[in-house]
Amino acid sequence: METTEEKGAAAMSERTAELAIETSQLVKTFGDNRAVDGIDLAVPTGAVYGVLGPNGAGKTTTVRMLATLLRPDGGQARVFGHDVLREPNAVRSRVSLTGQYASVDEDLTGAENLVLLARLLGHRKPAARDRAAALLAAFGLEEAADRQVKNYSGGMRRRLDIAASILNTPDLLFLDEPTTGLDPRSRSQVWDIVRAVVAHGTTVLLTTQYMEEADRLAGRIAVIDHGKVIAEGTPGELKSSVGAGAVHVRLREAWQREQARQVLARTLDAQVQLDADPVALTARIMDGGTRDRAAAQASRALAELDEAGITVDDFSLGQPSLDEVFLALTGHPAEQADDSEQDGERESVEAAK
Ligand SMILES: Nc1ncnc2c1ncn2[C@@H]1O[C@H](COP(=O)(O)OP(=O)(O)OP(=O)(O)O)[C@@H](O)[C@H]1O
Ligand SMILES: [Mg+2]
Repeated sequence: METTEEKGAAAMSERTAELAIETSQLVKTFGDNRAVDGIDLAVPTGAVYGVLGPNGAGKTTTVRMLATLLRPDGGQARVFGHDVLREPNAVRSRVSLTGQYASVDEDLTGAENLVLLARLLGHRKPAARDRAAALLAAFGLEEAADRQVKNYSGGMRRRLDIAASILNTPDLLFLDEPTTGLDPRSRSQVWDIVRAVVAHGTTVLLTTQYMEEADRLAGRIAVIDHGKVIAEGTPGELKSSVGAGAVHVRLREAWQREQARQVLARTLDAQVQLDADPVALTARIMDGGTRDRAAAQASRALAELDEAGITVDDFSLGQPSLDEVFLALTGHPAEQADDSEQDGERESVEAAK
């Protein structure tokens, strides 16, 4: 007969088998700084899992521990059921990290870099060439294939980084802020690549400071701040946790805005915020929760504005953005202007190997 303990262990391994990552009270301290302060994660396979947080939240530190580049100071972490401390080789055989293998050489061309790395991973020369060519084509780098990497744009460089990290298709790919500092076009190219990687069966753990990015790519998101998970769920769940929606109103006349604010505050029983645009206001509907109720309240508010003689040019009911979710959860905005530390961090990931 099985003991309770054995049953518990079997249930646990069954559960972890379905998860790409499972952490329990994971901790990393640097001196007095609890950079990662008891993080629990359960990352299902086959999708993008977003880890969203501002500068210094603990994203890179978490990723480094999961990729076996940094020793946790407390708690547990498993990758495909393998403990990161006890079975680091089993973990390493199944994961890849942008920046880790992507030590691309600036003086080599994109093609030379990929062939070289493929050879280091054990591919024979013809196979290495084929794989490099296929990835260069898939990532839109065919024309740049024979150019030195030092002449690449930031977006091309980032795409080459990701290409290098999936030379051997990993079961789990860590992408640590893959689009920070990229222009919108390069960013959306990276998004397409991430989707393609997931379509091939790789699970992706993506860290980002961009709400829009997590919203577009991730099936589930953990919002972290000061080393703690402060919210977890699908993008939709996170959005509905801060209210049923936001009513955005644009008036014809700026002088009617104060009156409009009062009407909206009364009819929606909501906090009304005056936007930077002098004719615009936003009211957040907290009460009710359901979209239908929010829609009913919004249409009543529109009727009241009309009755009060206020001319409305534009009126919409939107889901709250993840930016608003972050603000509501933490009391401070998520995105900060400082993107400058990224390169230094990538180097220190290298150094920690
Ligand atoms: N090697 C280190 N030595 C000392 N402190 C560190 C080290 N690495 C990170 N930290 C500190 O740990 C905290 C979390 O840093 P981490 O790099 O994990 O944040 P992050 O979420 O990746 O931020 P960013 O968005 O800026 O990349 C920060 O306070 C940082 O200063
Ligand atoms: Mg980081």
